[in-house]
Amino acid sequence: MTGSSRETLAMEMNQSAASVSFGKRNGCYVNRSVAVILGLLFVSATVATGLLVYYYAPQVREAGDPLNLARTSLATERPMVPTTPMTPASEVKPKIDVRLPRSVKPLHYKVKLQPLINGNFSILGYVEVEVEVLEATSNVTLHIADIVTKNETIKLAPSDQVQGPGIGINKHSYDNERQFYVAELGEELEVGKKYVLSMDFEGYLNDQLHGFYSRLTRRGRSDRLIASTQFQPTDARRAFPCFDEPGMKATFEVYLGREEGMSSISNMPKFESIPIEGQPGWVWDHFNTSVPMSTYLVAFVISDFSHMNSTANDHVLFRVWARKAAIEQANYALTTGPDILTFFEGYFNVPFPLPKQDMIAIPDFSAGAMENWGLITYRETAMLYDPAVSAASNKQRVVVVVAHELAHQWFGNLVTPEWWTDLWLNEGFASFMEYLGVDHSEPSWKMMEQFVPDDLHDVFAIDCLESSHPISIPVGHPDEINEIFDRISYAKGASIIRMMNHFLTEATFRKGLSNYLTDLKYQNAEQDDLWQYLTTAAYEDNTLPTDISVKKIMDTWTLQMGYPVIKVTRSSDGTSATVTQERFLLVKNPNSTDTHDYKWWVPLSYTTETSPDFETTKPQRWMMDTEQQLTISSLPAKDKWVIFNVQETGYYRVNYDAENWNLIIQQLKDQHESIHVINRAQIIDDVLNLARAGQVSYDTALSVNAYLGKEVEYVPWDTALNNLGYLENMFTRSSGYGDLKSYLLDILIPLYNSVGFEDNLNDPHLDQYKRVKALSWACNLGYQDCVDNSQSLFNTWSTVYCTGVAEGGEEEWNFAWEQYINSNVATEKAKLLSAMGCTKEVWILSRYLDMAFTEGSGIRKQDASQVFAAVARNDVGRYLAWNYLRDQWQKIADYYGSGFFAIARIIKAATRAFNTKLELAELELFKQQHEGQLGTATRAVDQAIERTENNIKWMDNNYDVIMQWLADNGYSSKLKSL
Ligand SMILES: *[C@@H]1O[C@H](CO)[C@@H](O)[C@H](O)[C@H]1NC(C)=O
Ligand SMILES: *[C@@H]1O[C@H](CO)[C@@H](O)[C@H](O)[C@H]1NC(C)=O
Ligand SMILES: *[C@@H]1O[C@H](CO)[C@@H](O)[C@H](O)[C@H]1NC(C)=O
Ligand SMILES: [Zn+2]
Repeated sequence: MTGSSRETLAMEMNQSAASVSFGKRNGCYVNRSVAVILGLLFVSATVATGLLVYYYAPQVREAGDPLNLARTSLATERPMVPTTPMTPASEVKPKIDVRLPRSVKPLHYKVKLQPLINGNFSILGYVEVEVEVLEATSNVTLHIADIVTKNETIKLAPSDQVQGPGIGINKHSYDNERQFYVAELGEELEVGKKYVLSMDFEGYLNDQLHGFYSRLTRRGRSDRLIASTQFQPTDARRAFPCFDEPGMKATFEVYLGREEGMSSISNMPKFESIPIEGQPGWVWDHFNTSVPMSTYLVAFVISDFSHMNSTANDHVLFRVWARKAAIEQANYALTTGPDILTFFEGYFNVPFPLPKQDMIAIPDFSAGAMENWGLITYRETAMLYDPAVSAASNKQRVVVVVAHELAHQWFGNLVTPEWWTDLWLNEGFASFMEYLGVDHSEPSWKMMEQFVPDDLHDVFAIDCLESSHPISIPVGHPDEINEIFDRISYAKGASIIRMMNHFLTEATFRKGLSNYLTDLKYQNAEQDDLWQYLTTAAYEDNTLPTDISVKKIMDTWTLQMGYPVIKVTRSSDGTSATVTQERFLLVKNPNSTDTHDYKWWVPLSYTTETSPDFETTKPQRWMMDTEQQLTISSLPAKDKWVIFNVQETGYYRVNYDAENWNLIIQQLKDQHESIHVINRAQIIDDVLNLARAGQVSYDTALSVNAYLGKEVEYVPWDTALNNLGYLENMFTRSSGYGDLKSYLLDILIPLYNSVGFEDNLNDPHLDQYKRVKALSWACNLGYQDCVDNSQSLFNTWSTVYCTGVAEGGEEEWNFAWEQYINSNVATEKAKLLSAMGCTKEVWILSRYLDMAFTEGSGIRKQDASQVFAAVARNDVGRYLAWNYLRDQWQKIADYYGSGFFAIARIIKAATRAFNTKLELAELELFKQQHEGQLGTATRAVDQAIERTENNIKWMDNNYDVIMQWLADNGYSSKLKSL
């Protein structure tokens, strides 16, 4: 899966300094007249009517008995399926063992589903699953949720006598807590023998974006609905009874019942379409039997969407699907998808095993995308791209997500973690491989450099908190499983895999991976299996000493949380250095109860001013997890710098003695290109974070930035601005903000002047990125030239939405809303959604928050958290958002239901800039009031508390120091006018 959070981040741009969004427009807008606003009202009225129909007037469909299953008549109202609780995020959940018994294992499923999309939303279902008995048992247990089984149809018979009377079933029972259905049998099943369990059941198409769900895709005289699935991690059980654990692989033969005029797709190609007897207008689509796979990868979509195909790969038919009106926007995905698929086949040296690969853009989708085997589902912004309207970052987002999901076809789909504890293997690998895939497809984008700020630095910022967690973590309950789809699994996973790629060397790494995937295909694995394959490859290639194994090294990175800072202290003549390791914590809590001794196996690579080599990333020395300290000799004299962690391939920070820092600062000023661009970003990120943690002085840290006026590369700038965003955030409500602003503008103006205001599609990709950064910062800091330009451009040509909305009033806001409603391009809609959070009118913000969490307001459920974040980012909206969150917690939790990733994001957005004791007290009270009810947001609340505590300490320790530095360096808001 790809989370949606990076998308939110992309929208947030500089975390705090998001003030403008850019888009391109072909043509001008007419002036905003009353007629336009009336038109807007008309649209809203239609929307409201559409929804009333959707909810209160289900069409009654008179139909026969489609599956020969239901002796009960078809329900004529929205089905009441009270079976398993929906487990709203606000419910208390004790820890229970939620794993299925291992006494039987599934081999093959036949699944027939007829979802009444245009009817009452029930799903008429039939499932047949062949199992093999592994241990003697007299019951069969599988998962169901929100499903009613037709008990009288349930049958268990030996595979060789399926027509016979079957085994007697004494009792059917539901274990709602564990989401189990249990058939208690009259006799014991024979070990080694195969049986078929079959049953009719009824489920329903929910509107919560998980399981098998249905949403409106288009409103108009006749509403258009789509039914699609999102099963990962634990929601296949909402569509049909199944053994819903990743370790229980089986083959699937799917039948989908649909009306003529719609089409259906699933993991495998369609084999035939058969009219449903007794139901004119209905068809069974019958799909080929799949390869062995996990339930969470099964997928179905029924829609009236259009598609395009490509045969660029000679044995895989590649198709892209989207709303008819948006299908043109799938062109980029259609070109880049097969190219990357072919690249991965070569990289892993394992051919893609299915005959086709579909990708579909779903209008309402909770994650970013989902790697269902042969049928990848995306939210629209992650697959659709319109070169005339969308920004460079939207294009990158598309290819990155496409590459990520395609990488999963091997990592996750072909070889699958035995249990969710190893989720990080899936997500870490896909998150690393996505860079290789995009680098292949778009070589000029410097993806391997972009990795560093986007993943490595990004996760460093979370993994330095005490509330972090190890990447490999025991999980049980679905809420716990949902919670680990976080930046630690994705970005830390990717970062330590990148480290491994460099310490093993590329050739060894690839060889080990390829063997692992080939030997274990269609099976399950744990991290230790991968370590074994990589160790074997490393010994063959002599890339690791034979007394070190990959497991020994990697266990220290996956089983412990956090990461080290390496302190390099050179001798008085400079020729040797003492190196120590210590866990890097942003704030050391003196009352911490954590007594674990954090030490890692650290690959030490370094280079020197006298013989600079920024290409060799293989470590010169290993620092063992038993070593507190070691000595490195043969370094140059004391007036020449040394730099550790070449290309920042190691997952650690580096601190130096003051002399070495000064040598590096001098080198940056004299000739910064002598230091590798990634190491320039590393130095900036390390020094500013070390300063934040009180381990170097802000004098040193801010001196590093002095060279930036000459920096033209994107990645160091991105890193610098991300870090300066923290200072900006902390100062924004303080009296010293004016001084900080003049410092930041002083750094930024050369960049601003170099990028210009005209967004040009033909500019190099990263130049377009730089422009967005520079302009959004300059406008946010109130740079007059930027603000003037934005306002004059707002409703004409190239668009600078946020500033336009911020400087305007209700009329401008309504104008943006109208553009939002009418736009056919999801990325454009997303930008407008963020921009509408920029208004300074409190009542409009308040109305906007209400709309975000109200069905039918025009804001999709998938986008509610983005609206919330946009309001929370706004200085005017900050408290409003926080008050809303506290006041309306129940409403928000109910709106999302369980397992929705967005709630954690909302908490983070609301509390991001908290840095006062009052705010901390409010946050603690919030936690206390909702103890045990926070569900998937539990960790987000703890992280928010820790972040706030850290910010308070940071203000106490550094505010005055930085004010003094600003004064000493001539940045006083009174002296300078801009
Ligand atoms: C089902 O059988 C297994 C082993 O045969 C047993 O451990 C388990 O308690 C049984 N469950 C129920 C609900 O009877
Ligand atoms: C089937 O059995 C379960 C468990 O006893 C019960 O809750 C459910 O209502 C039954 N289903 C039907 C359709 O009667
Ligand atoms: C692929 O698209 C082309 C042109 O749109 C069409 O003629 C062809 O039948 C399609 N092939 C398949 C296998 O869908
Ligand atoms: Zn993923």
